[in-house]
Amino acid sequence: MKTSSPILELQGVSFRYPDGSVGLEGCSLSIGRGSRTAILGVNGAGKTTMFLHLNGILRPQSGHVFYDGATLDYGRNGLHKLRSRIGLVFQNPDSQLFSASVREDVSFGPMNLGLDTQVVKARVGDALRAVGLTDYADKPVHNLSFGQKKRVCIAGVLAMQPDVIILDEPMAGLDIGMQAELTRILEGLHSEGMTIIIATHDIDFAYQWAETISILVKGRCDATWEIPHIPNALDRFASHGIGIPRIAELHNSLVRLGLLDSGTGYPRSHQELVERLNEVVT
Ligand SMILES: Nc1ncnc2c1ncn2[C@@H]1O[C@H](COP(=O)(O)OP(=O)(O)O)[C@@H](O)[C@H]1O
Ligand SMILES: [Mg+2]
Repeated sequence: MKTSSPILELQGVSFRYPDGSVGLEGCSLSIGRGSRTAILGVNGAGKTTMFLHLNGILRPQSGHVFYDGATLDYGRNGLHKLRSRIGLVFQNPDSQLFSASVREDVSFGPMNLGLDTQVVKARVGDALRAVGLTDYADKPVHNLSFGQKKRVCIAGVLAMQPDVIILDEPMAGLDIGMQAELTRILEGLHSEGMTIIIATHDIDFAYQWAETISILVKGRCDATWEIPHIPNALDRFASHGIGIPRIAELHNSLVRLGLLDSGTGYPRSHQELVERLNEVVT
């Protein structure tokens, strides 16, 4: 459930890489508790750099990151605790997976929390079930497909039972069936109250999935919208090279042709648009 206090917040965060590249530049952003937030931006906008700040892998050179109202504690224990509460799924699963078998990999995090063996076993079982990999528990990680590896990474994060799950370009490299499967998994997590943050350059996915969309431009958060306000922001999306949701574009054309009523608001998905058209023609 969303409450007024954000669960994560960046205030004026700037970060340059050692070679001088700007990762973030005065970036400020609030993430609502229990929200589904999409961070949109073209390649190099700073999405990954922002995520590395949200779980303390990178530290702001100026500005602050807050979790649950407090600035991050970059001490060893503070980071250990933070990473048990905020799970990050990297874009490339090979950056995340390191154990021989699926079960070992997913067990690593909860074991590190010092949990009882039985508790770890139960959590790992639940996490593998959630991503549909129960039958793969004893498989060597290196024999899995890209999509399966990605699901192992998600299971590893779920086994920690975090408050926030952050996914960096999660749909990249997945086929349509697996994208639908991942959307279903995220739906389940959101309904259990988890805060979910996704980086993507896919405006269509963001529009369909998110409640809130923030646009990152050259390391700075340019603007944030709640989904119902997106139709007023289409020019802004277009001007940042992100494009506009195809559903919104199609809806506008159908309204211009007099086939749909503009007063009913924008459909979120292709399915919804087709249903509205069917209502009109029958
Ligand atoms: N390890 C790195 N060393 C130097 N520059 C980097 C490194 N990682 C990212 N950058 C630069 O920082 C900027 C932001 O990158 P990134 O956060 O990866 O963007 P995004 O995830 O939105 O594509 C880019 O200009 C990129 O080239
Ligand atoms: Mg990235």
